[in-house]
Amino acid sequence: MITIDGPAGVGKSTVAKCLAARLGYVYLDTGALYRAIAWKVQHEQLDPNNLAHIQALLARTDLRLMLSGDVLSIWVDGQALNQEVIRTPGISQLASCIAAIQSVRDWLLPIQRKVVGEVGIIAEGRDMGTRVFPSADVKFFLDAELEVRAIRRQRELGQQGKDIDLKTVRNDIAVRDDRDRTRMVDPLCPAPEAIMVDTSRQSVKEVVGHMMQIIADRL
Ligand code: DC
Repeated sequence: MITIDGPAGVGKSTVAKCLAARLGYVYLDTGALYRAIAWKVQHEQLDPNNLAHIQALLARTDLRLMLSGDVLSIWVDGQALNQEVIRTPGISQLASCIAAIQSVRDWLLPIQRKVVGEVGIIAEGRDMGTRVFPSADVKFFLDAELEVRAIRRQRELGQQGKDIDLKTVRNDIAVRDDRDRTRMVDPLCPAPEAIMVDTSRQSVKEVVGHMMQIIADRL
């Protein structure tokens, strides 16, 4: 079990996917689970501040991680999660808001942990090393300057055909990070034993090479 935590736009998904491919591990994107719930909240036009409504939503939601070969897919209410609809700026903010709710996090905990033991996993999120997988073999915490993360995220959105100005992207990331870092439950922070990696001035290849070296030394 390898965990990667860090703020938005730092490159967690990109490096996690590369590492998973190189190690023959399965990639677990836990942000997608929060996004899936946020999408349902938006779709059903619920008030994210109404705890009773959110809890009722969870009670009627069937969210599963399904392993097929070396691919872990997310199923919601009997259907494969549509990755496109959960990758909008609106869902990013809503996911961050509902991620601050204790009952949402408690509800997602066993779903995330269920995959443990079956295969090698690279899990990516905000509380992987601190809460969900505290006994992971290697823990990383990725960070990068806000400006660099904003530029990367803007480019990523551009590739999806979403043309958003840099100031808006920077502000969205800053607001979300602040919320994720300062919430009462499982805030974004490095586990004491996490290996810190600053990706600001490194290419994906350099970051992955550096992390592979650390993994090889530890495993
Ligand atoms: O990684 P992401 O951008 O897809 O995550 C969306 C939001 O979900 C993020 O702003 C905070 C929340 N999240 C979380 O609280 N804990 C996780 N392990 C993963 C994501």
